[in-house]
Amino acid sequence: MKTITFKDSQKVAKAVAAEIIKIVNQKPNAVICIAGGDTPLPVMQELIHEADLKKVDFSKAYFVGLDEWVGLGKETKGSCIQTLQDNLYEPLGLREEQIIFFDGKANDLEKELDRINAFIAKKGLDFILLGIGMNGHIGFNEPGVTIDSEAQVVALDEVTTRVMSKYFDEQLPLTEGITLGFKQILAAKNIVLMATGLKKAEIVKQTVKTKPTNQLPATVLKLAEKEADFYLDEAAASLLEEESL
Ligand code: F6R
Repeated sequence: MKTITFKDSQKVAKAVAAEIIKIVNQKPNAVICIAGGDTPLPVMQELIHEADLKKVDFSKAYFVGLDEWVGLGKETKGSCIQTLQDNLYEPLGLREEQIIFFDGKANDLEKELDRINAFIAKKGLDFILLGIGMNGHIGFNEPGVTIDSEAQVVALDEVTTRVMSKYFDEQLPLTEGITLGFKQILAAKNIVLMATGLKKAEIVKQTVKTKPTNQLPATVLKLAEKEADFYLDEAAASLLEEESL
């Protein structure tokens, strides 16, 4: 896993957006997956800005959701679909058929897994942008997760249930997440893991120095065939040794 450090989160966002734009300009019907959460928000703004300037055309691209809280849909502020819908898909003017997203409210979650697995099996992922949880989770692949799995339903880790209140206006009794699995993530043609801010510095350090283990899911990205890039701002990289910067 290659670490690339930029001065601040805005510069990281510009670099990540440039990667995505390069891919879509080369392959207009590329399949792009962008995590929810706070970290990718500046990347989304950058993509919208560049699309407005006609530097890229997303009208043929596909956008796959990385994960969703089981029980939530787009009417809940803070759900993954609401974050992506309001901050990226709508501003880009995407059509419904371009968006492939887990329905966290589906009665039959197995069917939901099958639907997303079938799409990815057919088209693959050209690019995936991941954030890292405070416990090292990737999507909702929590510590201890099965790593040779396609999309799966995972019990939320205690750290995730503690941190999740930052996304929601009220306390929600969430216990599970539905997420792409590492089998699919590792097979993506381009993998970018992004971390910004001082609060991520410790988990970034742990990820960089730890051998691949399902106990720290972000380290599993070191097993990717095409080397994953770890994009950091100086704050998130602040606990790394000089030589790995
Ligand atoms: C969200 C997701 C999560 C987040 C991670 C970091 O769709 O997949 O794995 O990427 O929890 O969240 P933020 O960016 O809010 O710190």
